[in-house]
Amino acid sequence: MRILSGIQPSGSLHLGNYFGAIEQFLNFQKSGAELFIFVADLHALTTAKNPADLKRSIFEVAAAFIAFGLVDEKTTIYRQSDVPETLELFWILSCLAPMGLLERAVSFKDKTVRGLDANVGLFNYPILQAADILILQPDKVPVGKDQKQHLEITRDLAEKFNSQFGATLKLPEPEIPKKVAVVPGTDGEKMSKSYGNAIEIFAEESVLRKQIMRIKTDSTAKGQPLDYAKCLVFQLFKLFATAAEEKDLAEKYRNGEVGYGDAKQILFEKVLTKFGPARKKFQELQKNPSEVTKILEQGGAKARGEAAANLAKIRTKIGLK
Ligand code: ADP
Ligand code: TRP
Repeated sequence: MRILSGIQPSGSLHLGNYFGAIEQFLNFQKSGAELFIFVADLHALTTAKNPADLKRSIFEVAAAFIAFGLVDEKTTIYRQSDVPETLELFWILSCLAPMGLLERAVSFKDKTVRGLDANVGLFNYPILQAADILILQPDKVPVGKDQKQHLEITRDLAEKFNSQFGATLKLPEPEIPKKVAVVPGTDGEKMSKSYGNAIEIFAEESVLRKQIMRIKTDSTAKGQPLDYAKCLVFQLFKLFATAAEEKDLAEKYRNGEVGYGDAKQILFEKVLTKFGPARKKFQELQKNPSEVTKILEQGGAKARGEAAANLAKIRTKIGLK
């Protein structure tokens, strides 16, 4: 079974990235699957403004993959831009994609509604994603729910290719976690690197604490009963807790034993405990960047070799060769 997924280097990794995507990568790794996990640096260009920031984010996302342990002989970590074959497939798929399909894409609509610059790259974003996926022919693509439509577009384009040129491309299945559809940010909207509402896994302790303390709550004073079902802190806590811990905290909310400040402190400790080992490894990698670069170079060469073989077949099918 081949698994493929990517994360944009558009900022630091947050709880949404972990529970939406990375946790699934780790589960697939445990099950013995073959993994292709990449840093979607070309996708990040749709919004990147500053080369130094982009460079740092690329390093950080790659270091995060390594810090979480996504390194073994069946796992390939690479940079999207190290597989230029993707861009040729991108063009081939562009010539099959109806305008209407992209006009309906939420990634584009969502960003423009928020007043972010809309460029043609953002419009074409789902086709590049389809190319990332189809160039390596995975069986499954683990992503958060926000990516569901991109996977549908990928499958649509693969089907269109196959019906026009004969069975060639495998249709990938999205793998979306059941535990949590969308992790909310500190403002209650979807947590995202670009919305300023993230809780960052690898942030310094003081920053992490601040991010958790700014989670939006109502103004009920400590001692009053709190409604855990409506509380963002509780929703995030649930991601880390066992059923018994969840029940226990819910009870304390109900009987006024904890205030929002206490709940935030509990969450802060949970985050530090869960990510402690990865945070430590991440710090070590900051001091030893060549370890990251080496893994990316090896991974890039491997992914590129496979992509080139697939692209050769695709070229033949469409009459380019
Ligand atoms: P961001 O939106 O922060 O830029 P990406 O778009 O790079 O994050 O997402 C990388 C992966 O993390 C994708 O699989 C995406 O579905 C998942 N993801 C991002 N934010 C969330 C969230 N709030 N809840 C669940 N999954 C998420
Ligand atoms: N669009 C994805 C996101 O924002 C990142 C991504 C790019 C991706 N290419 C991909 C995810 C291919 C899975 C497969 O989260």
